[in-house]
Amino acid sequence: MPDYETHEYDVLVIGAGGAGLRAAIEASAQGARTALVCKSLLGKAHTVMAEGGIAAALGNVYEQDNWQVHFRDTMRGGKMLNNWRMAQLHAQEAPDRVHELENWGALFDRTADGRILQRDFGGHRYARLAHVGDRTGLEMIRTLQQHAVHNGIDVFMECTISRLLKDGDRVSGAIGYWRESGKVIVFNAKAVVLATGGVGKAFKITSNSWEYTGDGHSLAYWAGADLIDMECVQFHPTGMVWPPSVRGILVTEGVRGDGGTLTNSDGVQFMFNYITPYFASETADTIEEAERWYDDKRNNRRTPNLLPRDEVARAINSEVKAGRGSPHGGVFLDIASRRSAEYIRRRLPSMYHQFKQLADVDITATAMEVGPTMHYIMGGVRVDADTAQSTVPGLFAAGECAGGMHGANRLGGNSLSDLLVFGRRAGLGAAEYAGNLRATPKLDQEALDGVVKEMFSPFDHGSAAENPYTIQHELQDTMHTLVGIIRNKSELDEAMVQVRGYQERAQRAGVEGHRQYNPGWHLSIDLKSMLTVSEAIARAAETRKESRGGHTRDDYPDPSPEWGKVNVVVRQGPGGDMRISTEPLPQMPADLQALFEEAH
Ligand code: FUM
Repeated sequence: MPDYETHEYDVLVIGAGGAGLRAAIEASAQGARTALVCKSLLGKAHTVMAEGGIAAALGNVYEQDNWQVHFRDTMRGGKMLNNWRMAQLHAQEAPDRVHELENWGALFDRTADGRILQRDFGGHRYARLAHVGDRTGLEMIRTLQQHAVHNGIDVFMECTISRLLKDGDRVSGAIGYWRESGKVIVFNAKAVVLATGGVGKAFKITSNSWEYTGDGHSLAYWAGADLIDMECVQFHPTGMVWPPSVRGILVTEGVRGDGGTLTNSDGVQFMFNYITPYFASETADTIEEAERWYDDKRNNRRTPNLLPRDEVARAINSEVKAGRGSPHGGVFLDIASRRSAEYIRRRLPSMYHQFKQLADVDITATAMEVGPTMHYIMGGVRVDADTAQSTVPGLFAAGECAGGMHGANRLGGNSLSDLLVFGRRAGLGAAEYAGNLRATPKLDQEALDGVVKEMFSPFDHGSAAENPYTIQHELQDTMHTLVGIIRNKSELDEAMVQVRGYQERAQRAGVEGHRQYNPGWHLSIDLKSMLTVSEAIARAAETRKESRGGHTRDDYPDPSPEWGKVNVVVRQGPGGDMRISTEPLPQMPADLQALFEEAH
């Protein structure tokens, strides 16, 4: 390729959070020549926003815990929409991945007798989150990063991938640009692993930072891969609400895991009014049984403040709508009246500093104001559970951009373990696939030139140009207002009308200046991904006519047995149009099904 800077590898990993780093480590360990591409600087990833811990049935705090209980919690938390095999592998392998991380240098908090300490999180029957204060994701990234750079992996930082390349049906690499110079870069690879994280920047209030524009979801979709469950979007119940400049920044579930309580403006612990039989199925079959369980003093370590995230986010939404919110449109999260200042500063140091520095609130003395923030998408690239390969040969996906593992709602803490378990499996799968290919698939010069022309087009639009920032702001409003926590048909239809309008305007998004570090140009490219995932989310949400986990419709308020048996599948049609269909979930084997019939 004379025209473009070109690199050849066996395995190209796109995205360098927990999943990408773990995939690259594994591929390289298998002997594959491996490249790791990150949109930002190495180490800056949404993984650090999983603050409270890594879920794994180590059995250190509750020895009754085991992979079967973790599997069952994960499936119930996902409202049974999960790919059972992924949930099984995840529960079985998470303990080994945590111990491996410890062997690589991660320093977890300890029990009194020196084992890895585990904390409580919503929907987990036992306290099972291995953690490092409230900086677990950061410690995980630090450890993986150190391990990766000592293993001969080539890292390309501040490099955005715009398209995957194919040779016939197979993946043959990817093309993108250096963010600093604006120069084109091409990767010719036998296998590609997508580990790009989420889609938060399509929403107005989010815990995600600027990188999370749905790149992996869109790259896979444009390359012909299936996406599943895109309607299932997680609003973490507790993001900061004040001041406006920090709205959406995460307040870890670890605050509630360590005893924090949610109250409304009347001072009422309102979560006691939102105990549902659906959640209660984790511990009880009826509301009455669940209420008795919560009243039982022996169990008062658990409160409905730690219901699964979808349920707490909806409850907060209802309290605010009913006029019982805090002054800035959230509710109160109080740990000060439950724990000593010394305990709070030791267990939750980041939260302490975050509120002190950003909001001038001392959380050892005062309640925090919190509200839901778009945190995670359960939907993503459909993958084979064992190998992480997508429906496109040579294309693998792991972490948030892969679908299936978490069903309709992810339990907190299951993300970090997912990244480790499936990052490793994706790296292994990709290396094996690459090892079986004699030659690197070919690059298609015409396709490359076409992508480059499209990438540079925002410089050609002159005075008719649309401002990419304006389009993004309007899109974020649309997704927040019409495709948010509570949805209905007329709003979703209206959302689609608006998204189509943005898609049309985005064709004319234009920028001035040159290609050297031009964020407006970068955004005009990212807009294409955000618009693709927004269409997928809105249309999948319109298709699923029920409420389940992170997909709530007020026109179909209940879960439906029929919809509980299918994935909503998003696929590109031959003419480039988006097609939506439904397909049955994989059938769970009888021995795993039996786990749901056993006594609680
Ligand atoms: O609340 C948290 O610490 C986030 C954890 C997660 O998303 O898994």
